[in-house]
Amino acid sequence: MSTVLLHDAIATLTQGGLVAFPTETVYGLGADARNDRAVAEIFARKGRPQFNPLIVHFPTVEMAKAEVAWNTKAERLAAAFWPGPLTLVLPRAAQSRISLLVSAGLPTLAVRVPAHPLAHELLLRAHMPVAAPSANRSGRVSPTLASHVQEEFGDAVPVLDGGACTVGLESTVVGFEKGGAVILRPGSITLVMIERVLNTPVGYIKEGADISAPGMLLSHYAPSIPVRMNASEAKTGEALLGFGAVNGATLNLSERGDMVEAAANLFAFLRGLDDGKYSGIAVSPIANEGLGIAINDRLKRASMR
Ligand code: TXA
Ligand code: MG
Repeated sequence: MSTVLLHDAIATLTQGGLVAFPTETVYGLGADARNDRAVAEIFARKGRPQFNPLIVHFPTVEMAKAEVAWNTKAERLAAAFWPGPLTLVLPRAAQSRISLLVSAGLPTLAVRVPAHPLAHELLLRAHMPVAAPSANRSGRVSPTLASHVQEEFGDAVPVLDGGACTVGLESTVVGFEKGGAVILRPGSITLVMIERVLNTPVGYIKEGADISAPGMLLSHYAPSIPVRMNASEAKTGEALLGFGAVNGATLNLSERGDMVEAAANLFAFLRGLDDGKYSGIAVSPIANEGLGIAINDRLKRASMR
């Protein structure tokens, strides 16, 4: 596998190249967010539609703030959850040097300060905003191990290996409408956690709502075989991806029914079962509350085709 050392990863970013790097959520495919050519290369490598904007990663809250029009709700959320698995979508600052390609024609920028120590070190030492979508080809399951990135891109993309991502689901994406916070993509920072910090009700973006939340492309995160949710057992040919005390599971997201463990295992297990041995993946029911909302969101997208 083409893993690289930190100082080589920094040199590659500085020269306008692409580097895959670990975050606490999933591996990202990073490039200098100020460099049009480098950003265009991300879209090309992923086969990503040009209308789907990228998240920009920063080593510090101050550096993130400088690129957007900040507000008091963002301030509270950043104080509570950064560094961490939360992305804030805010109007682009007039003086921002982030490539316009990053935001795909939208007047907003998605910014995040990741918590993974290696990501932090990379961002701090490269001292630049790094645009990074998940390091998978467009529409496929996000990588939570360096070897997954290799499966996606072969040796073409150098990978900084930081081990298994602890969260395992992409960051919660929050936007602001008429002063209120709206969840554009559920993640491990839950609606309840956000409401508690803002001390006000928060909603989810409406299903199929137009593309201020383009990330909500309906089919996404999909293995090559059908995924069937809320299954009590596997049909002939299917693998059973269990959750909790389930008999006959091919793999179990968490035998003790722990959501955090299930989230961390989800993408690796979907990948593992998509190996040509099975005709489909049947998944046990997972309660739609707390972290279960984000898990079910990803499963629902994986099950649409
Ligand atoms: O955890 C994560 O967020 C990972 C790691 C690498 O940081 N990144 C990630 O990136 O999941 P990606 O590109 O796979 O998903 C970014 C999401 C997409 O749903 C995209 O549409 C949304 O963020 N997004 C980015 N910029 C936006 C904007 N200006 N307005 C609305 N949504 C935006
Ligand atoms: Mg993605």
